[in-house]
Amino acid sequence: MKVLVVGSGGREHALCWKIAQSPLVDEVICAPGNAGTALVARNAGVNATDLEGMVTLARTEGVGLVVIGPEDPLCMGLGDRLRACDIPVFGPNADGAYLEASKVGSKEFLERHRIPTAGSRRFDRSGLAKGHLESVTDWPQVIKADGLAAGKGVYVCDDVKSAKTAIDQVMEERRHGEAGNRILVEEFLEGEEASVFAITDGSTILILEPVQDHKQVGEGDTGPNTGGMGVFSPVANLGTRVHKQIEQRVLVPTVHALRQENIDYRGILFVGLMLTDSGPRVIEYNVRFGDPECQALVRRLKSDLVPILLATATGTLESIEPPEWDSRACVGVVGAAGGYPDTYTKGDPISGLAAAEELDDVVVFHAGTRDKDGDVVTDGGRVLCVTALGKTVEDARELAYAGYDRIQWDGKFCRRDIGDRHAGKAPVLDDPGDF
Ligand SMILES: Nc1ncnc2c1ncn2[C@@H]1O[C@H](COP(=O)(O)OP(=O)(O)O)[C@@H](O)[C@H]1O
Ligand SMILES: [Mg+2]
Repeated sequence: MKVLVVGSGGREHALCWKIAQSPLVDEVICAPGNAGTALVARNAGVNATDLEGMVTLARTEGVGLVVIGPEDPLCMGLGDRLRACDIPVFGPNADGAYLEASKVGSKEFLERHRIPTAGSRRFDRSGLAKGHLESVTDWPQVIKADGLAAGKGVYVCDDVKSAKTAIDQVMEERRHGEAGNRILVEEFLEGEEASVFAITDGSTILILEPVQDHKQVGEGDTGPNTGGMGVFSPVANLGTRVHKQIEQRVLVPTVHALRQENIDYRGILFVGLMLTDSGPRVIEYNVRFGDPECQALVRRLKSDLVPILLATATGTLESIEPPEWDSRACVGVVGAAGGYPDTYTKGDPISGLAAAEELDDVVVFHAGTRDKDGDVVTDGGRVLCVTALGKTVEDARELAYAGYDRIQWDGKFCRRDIGDRHAGKAPVLDDPGDF
């Protein structure tokens, strides 16, 4: 079987790397891919948001499965277009992807189905939103642009003044374009943040191993948000009781609600949560794998990924054996281009990739890289993610940094505290299947 992976980031390199190991697969095609995907797949020059081009590619290549990595093509309806041609797809249709495409839409969904979330008001005019904030006595408040804003559309505001500034930036200056047509003004939730990755075919739910990313650019979680600067798995700080609550109060009701609304959802359900005193509450849904969370998950997954993806795409997830996970921990360190997440240069030559992978249990997943006349050069803000397995998070972290330090390009930087939150805590390995 041929498998087509849509996207060009570290997540897609990791998916191609894992899928290529499957005995069920003859060839992996990645569109558009990067210099890393080219090592394990055949890159095809079709952009992820070129729906017409992608459908033509899938049809002419006769692929047996399409795995859609990023949110944009999902929200634009690539899943619908491929399914209309009877091609099995891992990833929801546009109606399911709306859970991520619209924060107002997902809030209405959560409220309709009484799934716990933060209280909120929605506004399509800045004047009304500001008027509402004048009467608010509880601070902070959270201002959220409705649409896709690449992780930059949420503002936690401590007072009326900063909230009004955020509203002006989103609704008047249109910093996130159309995404700011509507906003949510949301209650601030106190607690520990957590996220859960599940795979569902609309009936069966398969919860994946716990994994945690590091969103901010600076050590100690400082500075602006990024796509993600590093990752570790497993995460020991979530107890079995909380896992059960998340499953029973959030995941199961969400899948029921999707069915009730006739949304045929087949793919990743990634839920961002706040663990409050009154239990888990949903902050947001994402409809695809996180990046770099995906990289750590595929490193720890011992089972063949392809039967899981295919069963999800064909609605037969129930028949799949629970996957086997490596009991070892994984740490992934993202190497970024100097200046990221603001402006940075592209085209800088990268050396030492092979030397890094000479270390046992180190795998480098490319993100913003491309091939330039046989050399690998930088081509994005997040350039690559060095992943390593180790007996503990500490061991894995040491090895990941050893790998990272063997790789060079002008201006490279990383966070040196990936997995630190874990320091001193042994990974929860006694019941990995229980989560
Ligand atoms: N209601 C809330 N209470 C407290 N913090 C919040 C709330 N909503 C969002 N946040 C914070 O803002 C971050 C981004 O919000 P989120 O809804 O996940 O949007 P996105 O990931 O699309 O930027 C969250 O990870 C969380 O730290
Ligand atoms: Mg989020």
